[in-house]
Parts: sequence; C-alpha cells; structure tokens
Amino acid sequence: MSNFTIRQAEPGDAAALVQLAREVGAEPEGWLISTSEWRGAGDERRYLRSLRRSRDAAVFVAETPGGIVGRLSVGRDPHPASTHVADLGLMVAKGHRRQGIGRALLERAVDWAQRMGVSKLELHVFPHNEPAIQLYEAFGFRREGYRERHYRRDGGLVDAVLMAYEVMPTLPE
Ligand SMILES: CC(C)(COP(=O)(O)OP(=O)(O)OC[C@H]1O[C@@H](n2cnc3c(N)ncnc32)[C@H](O)[C@@H]1OP(=O)(O)O)[C@@H](O)C(=O)NCCC(=O)NCCS
Repeated sequence: MSNFTIRQAEPGDAAALVQLAREVGAEPEGWLISTSEWRGAGDERRYLRSLRRSRDAAVFVAETPGGIVGRLSVGRDPHPASTHVADLGLMVAKGHRRQGIGRALLERAVDWAQRMGVSKLELHVFPHNEPAIQLYEAFGFRREGYRERHYRRDGGLVDAVLMAYEVMPTLPE
C-alpha cells in the first residue's frame, strides 16, 4: 500500500505533474480527455502560481515518499449564472491505483468546494473508462447525461458521460 498525503500543488511540482499527465495520457486505453496538448512545465508552473490565492480553481496532489502519484484539478464555471458549479479532472499513476488515492483526492475537492461556496461538482468521463465511472459512482456522483460526439480524439469525435456530485454545505459549529 502507498503511504501518501494529499496537499495543494505548488509551482515546484510542475515538472512532476506534467510527467504524470504524459504517462497517464500515453496509456493505450485512452483515459484522459486532454492528452497530447497537455501544457509544458513552464506553463504549468505559471498556472500553479496563479492559483495561489484563487477562489476559482485549485490543484491537489497525492504524494508518496517516492514523489507525486496523483493529481486533481478543480475549476469554477466562469458563467455568472453557474459559479456554484466546478469541473474536475483526476488522475493517479498506474502503479498506485486501487489504494484509495483517487477517493482521497475527491474528498479534498469536496472540502475545497464547501469552503469556496461550490455546491455542485461535475466532470466528463469516457464511457469506456469503467475504473473511473466505478470510483465516481461509489463516491456518490450520478450520471447526468450523455454527450454525443463531444470531444475531438484521434481525428474523430467521441462521446462522454457527464456526471455530477451534490456538495452538502458544512454544518455551522
Ligand atoms: C480512475 C482513477 C483516478 C481511480 O483512482 P484510484 O486511486 O485507483 O481509485 P481508488 O483506489 O480511490 O478507488 C476507490 C474505489 O473506486 C472504485 N474503483 C477504482 N478503480 C476501479 C477499478 N479498476 N475497477 C473497479 N472499481 C474501481 C472501487 O469502488 C474503489 O474502491 P475499492 O478499491 O475499495 O474497491 C485511476 O484509475 C486513474 O487515474 N485512471 C487513469 C486516469 C483516469 O481515468 N482519470 C479519470 C478521467 S475522467
């Protein structure tokens, strides 16, 4: 089992996060919606720096003594009528799956949402991504819709499942 901690990403994590995304993105199953166009380490560092005081987006990492093995990004919807909604993206390194890291990152996203006044988390997942769909459903996400030909991939257009999670407000102490 991995001994891991979850924390907010820092600009110095940029290279490790780009590497993680490239590795997961290169898996033949094609799990990720963004793959080849993943930003370089310089852009990633600038992005992480820009998040420091942001109430609109955050990146969390799972770290083991051997390095970063998971990433969750969350970003508030920019539309003025849906700023209570945030979109998330998640990945865990292949050698560290099924050890509770994905779930722990989702828990941190829910905590962030509660603090930022976000009441709905949403995400898109490819229909063939059974591991992710199983995790999201076990966590409490529900299928909200099916987006046909919604993403460009390998020169074609592919479908995605839209899922959402209702964030319960924290009770006052
Ligand atoms: C999806 C992903 C993030 C799951 O991360 P993880 O750290 O392995 O998930 P967890 O260990 O927290 O799993 C929690 C629960 O989710 C479910 N689950 C996770 N992976 C599963 C799998 N391969 N098959 C069945 N259920 C699975 C199980 O209910 C699991 O609980 P259990 O292990 O006690 O049975 C990981 O597989 C991954 O990074 N995949 C590639 C990238 C990706 O698909 N990202 C999501 C894009 S939308």
